[in-house]
Amino acid sequence: MHKIGSSARPDWQLAVVIGAGGMGTAAARRLSQHYRILLADIDEARAAAVAEILCKEGGDATGVACDITNPAAVQRLTKTVADMGGFRVLAHVAGLSPSMADFGTIIRVNLTGAVRVAESLLPLASVGTAAILISSLAGHTYRPSETIEALLRGPADPALVDKLMVALGSQQATPQVAYPISKYALMAYCRQQAAAWGERGARIVSLSPGMIATPMGALEFEKSPRKMQLYARTPLKREGTMLEIADAIEFLASDKASFISGTDLLVDGGLAGALTAR
Ligand SMILES: NC(=O)c1ccc[n+]([C@@H]2O[C@H](COP(=O)([O-])OP(=O)(O)OC[C@H]3O[C@@H](n4cnc5c(N)ncnc54)[C@H](O)[C@@H]3O)[C@@H](O)[C@H]2O)c1
Repeated sequence: MHKIGSSARPDWQLAVVIGAGGMGTAAARRLSQHYRILLADIDEARAAAVAEILCKEGGDATGVACDITNPAAVQRLTKTVADMGGFRVLAHVAGLSPSMADFGTIIRVNLTGAVRVAESLLPLASVGTAAILISSLAGHTYRPSETIEALLRGPADPALVDKLMVALGSQQATPQVAYPISKYALMAYCRQQAAAWGERGARIVSLSPGMIATPMGALEFEKSPRKMQLYARTPLKREGTMLEIADAIEFLASDKASFISGTDLLVDGGLAGALTAR
């Protein structure tokens, strides 16, 4: 029922956006043009503040707390989504870069957390639903050994971090290795899950940003000298913007992408191609 003086749109379908940081905010703002927004972040105040701004702009957004490493929190989020009538879009954007956490935390957030959210919401998916999980260019440059590849086939295994640490050894079990592993495995997960989502008439895809101008991107420029070398090799000779990622999310969420599932969209100014071209 429409309420005078409110921009609430109970007649619109729901987009769930996980992560209220740079890209998450850009995605939520764009999706708010066509969907009600449920915005979740480990930082409740941040999610609430972004949702409040979107409401002031005429959107219909709610911010909630959810730590995606906590199964009970993800269950609560799923219950909220069910109570709101299910969802049409999942944009899973939350993640940690190598300078933000240790090996285990990066795997638990970027991989296991993202998989937990997707698995928990899958039963609520219906015909036309699209799930978009943000991976990274870094996942395109990682080549796992057979042992690591086998372990990554079980991204929800509670013992995954320990098993990876044993397989990699202490020299290699670093945040700089955890990041590409987590993003590589997230892409593989979306490929593998397309059939399960397809059973419901729904789609699941990953989206791999290259270098994007966000606070996270700036932090990595500061901490990692290698990033400047990669920047120099980007064919388009610039960083991407959060708006360009929002463009791609909007497309993948829309019916214009209705036959795109189980694959990855690189939005990287051509960098992955430049790094792998022979
Ligand atoms: N910025 C880049 O250049 C770049 C490039 C490639 C991929 N990415 C990926 O894009 C995504 C978004 O990046 P960004 O630059 O917007 O980062 P950001 O740091 O601005 O936002 C990430 C958000 O995730 C939230 N978060 C962290 N841990 C969480 C948890 N356990 N539960 C719930 N929320 C949690 C943070 O609170 C934060 O709001 C990430 O997945 C990142 O790996 C970024």
